[in-house]
Amino acid sequence: MIEKINSLLHEVESFAPTTAAEVEEFRIKILGKKGALNALMEEFKQVPAEQKRELGQKINALKQAAQERINTLKSSLGSGAGVKVAAVEDMTRPGSAAADGTRHPISIVKNQIVDIFSRLGYTVAEGPEIEDDWHVFSALNFPLSHPARDMQDTFFVEKQSNEPNVKDLLLRTHTSSIQVRAMDHQKPPIRIVCPGRVFRNEAISYRAHCIFHQVEGLYIDEGVSFADMKQSILYFAKEMFGESATIRMRPSYFPFTEPSAEVDVSCNLCGGKGCNVCKGTGWLEIMGCGMVDPNVLEASGIDSKKYSGFAFGMGVERIAMLKYGVKDLRLYFENDVRFLHQFDSAL
Ligand code: PHE
Repeated sequence: MIEKINSLLHEVESFAPTTAAEVEEFRIKILGKKGALNALMEEFKQVPAEQKRELGQKINALKQAAQERINTLKSSLGSGAGVKVAAVEDMTRPGSAAADGTRHPISIVKNQIVDIFSRLGYTVAEGPEIEDDWHVFSALNFPLSHPARDMQDTFFVEKQSNEPNVKDLLLRTHTSSIQVRAMDHQKPPIRIVCPGRVFRNEAISYRAHCIFHQVEGLYIDEGVSFADMKQSILYFAKEMFGESATIRMRPSYFPFTEPSAEVDVSCNLCGGKGCNVCKGTGWLEIMGCGMVDPNVLEASGIDSKKYSGFAFGMGVERIAMLKYGVKDLRLYFENDVRFLHQFDSAL
């Protein structure tokens, strides 16, 4: 009997099938109901008691070896009958495509905005999300009583006292703070775009969120005029929304620009006729802009008699909503893959 066990063990170890069907056949032959192992067990019943221990152990070892061998062969040959080992091991076969993700629509639109302005010679500048009062408010000519300095509008990280203080730490409410840092460290000409996350203490709804993304821009040089600003923004609008896009500017107010304007782009959904997205006006608001206030230039040590400049700022979510016709801002933050997979871009 011991020879029988050894020869079966040898058979198991040297078994080299090429198809899954052969493995199955072998399994039935060894481990099946009428297979070699069960036959051994029958024989085992007759074995004298003093040999039972040794033979029992051998049979168990054989059973385990057979099971392991069959399992590994099955998983390497697959269960599909007739698959040749050679085919599985063919290293020249093309691989199967892995499903890769898509870029987030906010990243796509942010990259597009940056890309458009980079064609006009702008470079990217970045800055910290936790800022101090000086870079977010004071250097930008915000009066001490401005409502943005209120706890209801801004998330404070560290407040010196109840009064506004240039050392207060807060989450930046706009990326204009990066422009202040750039003016502090660079000499004109300065031509930068500042993308980044910003934070405002707002109730979350379909049209507002406490976190969103901005791209702001700044251009300072000798003789920069309002006309330069208008032309740059028109170029941006056409690149972003199509050649037929036009813009209009409405007078507005920002502490850091004078004069200031709100920019509308012609509604690309109704072609300017008026629809429910543009609320019948034919226009969609896309950004704020203005000529940099001389106070702001001087606060950063730039001679306002020699230099002038313009700044603009837009919300990336807003541009993305208009571009893609997304009506609920919250979708951008939920990261539902069914939403995200609808956006695909090389940028
Ligand atoms: N900083 C402004 C905002 O966050 C946008 C802006 C930037 C307006 C530059 C004018 C000039 O709303």
